Amino acid sequence: MKFIALVFFVTAIHAKHEIYSGWKSVIVKPVNHEQLAKLTSKIIEFDLDFVSNAAVNREGVVLVKPQYQADFLKFLLQENISNWIHTEDLKKQFDIEDQKIEARKLTTRSINGGRIPYDNYQTLDVIYDYIDKIAEDYPETVTLVNSTKSFEGRPLKYLKISKDKFASNKPVIFIDGGIHAREWITPPAVTYAIHKLVENVTEPDLLENFDWILFPVVNPDGYVYSFEMERMWRKTRSTDQNIFSWLCPGVDGNRNFNFEWNTVGTSNNPCSNNYAGSKPFSEVESWTVGQIIEEHLDQIVLYITVHSYGSFILYPWGHNGTLSNNAFSLHTVGIDMAGAINKLSLPHFPKYVVGNGMLTLDYAVGGAAEDYAHYRGIPLTYTFELPGLRYGLQGFHLDPIYIHQVCIETWEAFVIGARRAGQLYGKKTNIV
Ligand SMILES: *[C@@H]1O[C@H](CO)[C@@H](O)[C@H](O)[C@H]1NC(C)=O
Ligand SMILES: *[C@@H]1O[C@H](CO)[C@@H](O)[C@H](O)[C@H]1NC(C)=O
Ligand SMILES: *[C@@H]1O[C@H](CO)[C@@H](O)[C@H](O)[C@H]1NC(C)=O
Ligand SMILES: *[C@@H]1O[C@H](CO)[C@@H](O)[C@H](O)[C@H]1NC(C)=O
Ligand SMILES: [Zn+2]
Repeated sequence: MKFIALVFFVTAIHAKHEIYSGWKSVIVKPVNHEQLAKLTSKIIEFDLDFVSNAAVNREGVVLVKPQYQADFLKFLLQENISNWIHTEDLKKQFDIEDQKIEARKLTTRSINGGRIPYDNYQTLDVIYDYIDKIAEDYPETVTLVNSTKSFEGRPLKYLKISKDKFASNKPVIFIDGGIHAREWITPPAVTYAIHKLVENVTEPDLLENFDWILFPVVNPDGYVYSFEMERMWRKTRSTDQNIFSWLCPGVDGNRNFNFEWNTVGTSNNPCSNNYAGSKPFSEVESWTVGQIIEEHLDQIVLYITVHSYGSFILYPWGHNGTLSNNAFSLHTVGIDMAGAINKLSLPHFPKYVVGNGMLTLDYAVGGAAEDYAHYRGIPLTYTFELPGLRYGLQGFHLDPIYIHQVCIETWEAFVIGARRAGQLYGKKTNIV
């Protein structure tokens, strides 16, 4: 028995990233809208997985399974879309990235007096311990909410941060991360905001004038799975959606919201990375975000859902490309936030692009959080795509040496976004 267990264990270690053997990552750079539209129209046919969206004159990175590689490359050639093979074998790439993370563990340290290190990716346990500890240490301002559980039974933890426990109906800022499991840079961007609001306060007006809701890991099941099993896992881990769910668990949490659900940019195939689920809010993780929005509907002035990567700030309507009545504010506040980031960002980081989600990416999505929140009446709602870097011909996950940098610059966008939202909607009236 012990022997069998040992054999299994050894096999499991060797199998790390094995499922990505032979997958390629390809950099594509469309030069006009026609090329971009052609590219996104092939997503379903070739089961393409864009880890970073392409835009006009902006490279994207797409993962291509072995069985589709020949046809996809032929298509790119036919359409004359610039492309480079970025990684010949994804498994090797992930092995290299694992080594970087392991190497960083030797030097990991805590910064600015905070208790979570920002120089490496952290497991869910470390993030959850931090959330608990903050709530324990700052009971006057911080309230932990942990009353709903993920599909696999993990508590969904978020913090409410307020000078008076939300008693005086201040405008509320709501920020979430980690709904897409593999986007590991997003939970630290949100925990860093917690750090700056309670542990190391350099902008005291932000708690004076606003109440905050910070939800660092919306999809803890997927997050854990992406650490332990499949690095590129994106979805939740539910198995109750479809008769095939046992084979292909999970739903794309950011296609599961109850607005324009399953109309565009989604799939009915449970094995697809963009599976919308059996019904709107089938996923308790998306539902919980929806509940927070309902609970504070009259107060929330700014909602940001943090994703990666691509260096984009995107706003509604993402499902059809029409500008909302609030487009002027959405755009100008978006520009201010991007400007704050660009000012601090490193010279070799891509500059942020701000725009309507669909018009910028030529790709419409239904059932996404940003559109849902705006539809419910929140004036400023954004999807952030945090930066990624191309490391020559290697690597597309952000090297852990840049986590701290991204957290600092993203925090600056939150600061500006909150202040602008306060000026515009401090006394909120329903505008959408
Ligand atoms: C293909 O694209 C390149 C670079 O974008 C351009 O110089 C060339 O003229 C294009 N060729 C055709 C046949 O469209
Ligand atoms: C707080 O943050 C500032 C700027 O990020 C840093 O210089 C300072 O050392 C930090 N203070 C503490 C007590 O950690
Ligand atoms: C939820 O938080 C409370 C304290 O706020 C704690 O007593 C309880 O154990 C937590 N539950 C879970 C499931 O983490
Ligand atoms: C796009 O969606 C928005 C929000 O639902 C709607 O107000 C607008 O009319 C739609 N545009 C078109 C062209 O249908
Ligand atoms: Zn995402």
